[in-house]
Parts: sequence; structure tokens; C-alpha cells
Amino acid sequence: MNEQTYEDFISTVSHELRTPLTSIRGFSQTMLASWDRLDDESKKKFLKIIEEQSNRLITLVENMLSVTKLQSSKDMLIYKETDIKPIINTVVSIVKNQYPSRKFVVDVSNKTPTVLVDRDKFQQVMMNLIENAAKYSFENSDITIKITSCENCEFVSIKISDTGVGIKPEDRERIFDKFSRIDNPLTRKVQGSGLGLYITKNLVEKMKGKISVDSLAKDDGKSFITTFEVRFPVCNIENQAREICKQ
Ligand SMILES: Nc1ncnc2c1ncn2[C@@H]1O[C@H](COP(=O)(O)OP(=O)(O)OP(=O)(O)O)[C@@H](O)[C@H]1O
Ligand SMILES: [Mg+2]
Repeated sequence: MNEQTYEDFISTVSHELRTPLTSIRGFSQTMLASWDRLDDESKKKFLKIIEEQSNRLITLVENMLSVTKLQSSKDMLIYKETDIKPIINTVVSIVKNQYPSRKFVVDVSNKTPTVLVDRDKFQQVMMNLIENAAKYSFENSDITIKITSCENCEFVSIKISDTGVGIKPEDRERIFDKFSRIDNPLTRKVQGSGLGLYITKNLVEKMKGKISVDSLAKDDGKSFITTFEVRFPVCNIENQAREICKQ
């Protein structure tokens, strides 16, 4: 990292840490100073904000650790033959809990081959993409996760689609950069550090997969169907013969 990049990194990180910390401090101070005057509902509301902001700090620290690990050669991936459906279902139930107004549809073709991935990293990739789909889509909209493959295909494809603010063609490369967020009414409303997709792309490519994005305007001209597609290598006969596809 050169000096300028390092300085940018430190100032972004400090800003990202300071915002939730300031709000945690502010709401705890208010509660301590006005405990007797606050009704139960306000206390609950303030504690909820403190909880949300602490979660945001945890995600941020975890993301920064992932970024550091990505840059180090010591971060070894453990490849295993993996049935991806249960992992996707777990991620969906976690995100659903955070975004109860979204409707999640998991569409799986019956015979999905197993893929060769590091299970934790695969789950992290799915978490980032499905969480983004919920974060940047409209209330009460559908989020679909479609898994497809074909006989003799080298890859399994996972498409995550949402209906929301969309991503303009000129922004579609930039979103994968470190700390990059696109300014729009929804991103201003929801919090994030812009590390999720940077980590996701790096992990997918480390696992010999591919990631792409598309965003198409709907007839109303205001909403877009955004689809992120990831592809992972299947556990085919060749890989099995090379003994890299074992449980
Ligand atoms: N499904 C989506 N629809 C519209 N915009 C999206 C979508 N996914 C990502 N983006 C845009 O790409 C930017 C980068 O996404 P990324 O996941 O890297 O960061 P983030 O969600 O802002 O923060 P975090 O690090 O917490 O994930 C987002 O800020 C948003 O502007
Ligand atoms: Mg994100």
C-alpha cells in the first residue's frame, strides 16, 4: 500500500468506526442522564439503536479482518465437495430475520451438482450478496435465488435478483472496489462500509469462480431488477480423479 492509499484507508476506517461509536455513546449518555424521565418505549428504541450500531461495528471489524486476510498468503482455503442448498437456506433465514418485509424465493433445479468450495467462504459470499439484495431493494419486494446447472457443465450458477434502486452501467465495475458505495436515496438510508463486494469478488475469484452483475429497468422506469450471478466449479469426474473433490 502506498502512503496516499494508506492515509485514505485510515481516514475511511476512522470515519466508519466513529459514526456508530458516536451514536452508541450518545444514546447511552441520554439514557443514563434521563433514565427516570424516559418511558419504556423510548428506552427500548434507544437500546435497539445501540444494538444495531454495535452489530454494524462487528460487521465492519470482521470485514476489515477479511480484507487483511485476503492480502495475506497465509489465508488458506479449505476446499470441500459441498452441497450448496443447505448453506443458501441458512443464509436466507438469517437475512429474512433482519428484513422481514422481503419475500425470499429459493429456486433450485432438482439435480444440482456439488461444488468445490471453501464452505465458510462460500457462506460469506452468499451472505454479502443476499444481504445486499435485501438492503438495496424496495419494501415488500421479492428476492429470488436461482441455482442452475446442466449435465456436463463445468459450473453451477447462482443468480440473486432483487427489485430496487438498481446499478447504473457506469457504476457496475466500481462497486467491486474497496470502500466504494454508490450514492442514491437507498444507500443514504442504509448503512455500509463498501467492503462487502470487494471481499466477495476476491473470494469468488480465489475459489476459481466468476461474478457478474446486471441491472435492467422495469416498465415503471423507477425500479430495476438487479441480478448478481456467481459461478463455481462443479465436482466433476476430472476433479474427483485429481482427488480434490472429497468430503
Ligand atoms: N443489489 C444491489 N442493488 C443496488 N445497488 C447495490 C446492490 N448491491 C450493491 N449495491 C451498491 O454497491 C455498493 C457496494 O456494495 P458493498 O456490499 O460492497 O457495500 P455496502 O453494502 O455499502 O457495505 P458493506 O461493506 O456493509 O457490505 C453499495 O453501497 C450499493 O451502492
Ligand atoms: Mg454490502
